[in-house]
Amino acid sequence: MVLKKFSTTEIIENGNAVSLKFADGAVLRFHAIWLRDNAPDKETRAKNGQRLITLSDIPGDTKIESAKLDENNDLEIEFSPNDKVVRFPLHWLEQNAYDYPKGILNPGWLSKKIQTWDQKFLAKIPSAGFDEVHDDRKALAKWLANIRKFGFAKLSGGPVEDGALLKVAALFGYVRETNYGKWFEVRTEVNPNNLAYTSLGLQAHTDNPYRDPVPTLQILYCLENSADGGDSMVVDGFRAAQRLQEEMPDGFDVLANYCARFEYAGEAGTTLRSKRPMIELGPDGELIGIRFNNRSCAPIIDVPFDNMALYYKAYRRLGEIIDEQDMAVSFMLEPGECFIVDNTRVLHARKGYSGEGNRWLQGCYADKDGLYSTLCGIEQELERKVS
Ligand code: FE2
Repeated sequence: MVLKKFSTTEIIENGNAVSLKFADGAVLRFHAIWLRDNAPDKETRAKNGQRLITLSDIPGDTKIESAKLDENNDLEIEFSPNDKVVRFPLHWLEQNAYDYPKGILNPGWLSKKIQTWDQKFLAKIPSAGFDEVHDDRKALAKWLANIRKFGFAKLSGGPVEDGALLKVAALFGYVRETNYGKWFEVRTEVNPNNLAYTSLGLQAHTDNPYRDPVPTLQILYCLENSADGGDSMVVDGFRAAQRLQEEMPDGFDVLANYCARFEYAGEAGTTLRSKRPMIELGPDGELIGIRFNNRSCAPIIDVPFDNMALYYKAYRRLGEIIDEQDMAVSFMLEPGECFIVDNTRVLHARKGYSGEGNRWLQGCYADKDGLYSTLCGIEQELERKVS
């Protein structure tokens, strides 16, 4: 971040806020209570960054008595009523500024770290080699950053052995164990003498929408693939939602504003149910999740009668967009190759296949918080090396 050239400070709103003016004309305002709550001094924050006080330890009538730039170019604030003096680095204030107008974010907005895609856009599949990401932190960061950006990446050259997918999860985090175990088998033996055994394709879907919380990452790892066809394919659910919003804004709204229900009760002793929207927006309208899985959709009962016809129209259209050929990126997996998807965003599917041969994949779940934590740690390490 380029630090703006600082100009002047002004106490505003009767001491309830301060306005920082910069040489380029930019203005950043901060509230007294916000600054006091986020004070970086050692009475407020422990060395590990955890806050040592609660909000009730801060007087409700906290105001700014004085504000000036000190000799280190930090903003020095004196708070009343207890005359506490705290210094805030200017770059920290810039990084954490919140002085933007109300209502500027449209429903469905996306973080700048995310890039949506379709087949044409993602002509080159984001991928890396197992040894490379295992041995080189920089290469690992690049691969993880691609997963953050595109919600999907491939990894090649891994070991061809039972459970090898756990080594992929261990590169960035931890496996999420479920009732399917630490991992599960996706194995089909093709018998050319009996067409009934021909494996049909599966519509693109996100996995396990009936869990709450849903597993946020999935790894699918190939151990054997001697069958004809059976390509894997992925579709960016965020791009599909954007297209639905462009074509049918009221359809986007109805899928975002009402919950679907999902259920799995396919084995004794297991009944998993969730109630969540197919298009999930945060309270500020950020597009944060997609759930789409025809096989585990339970009766939808949270949409009022008057909106149900529109809901089904939108659900159908979203499915059609997802099924469009130009939305899908397809690839074959060789033994020792795998792909990872952000299961809250990218749908995966398998094309139908037939002929002789076997296809043996293993799958497991993991979570994005661990992946982002590892990525953030490496990015900070690399930044420290540069500075
Ligand atoms: Fe799946």
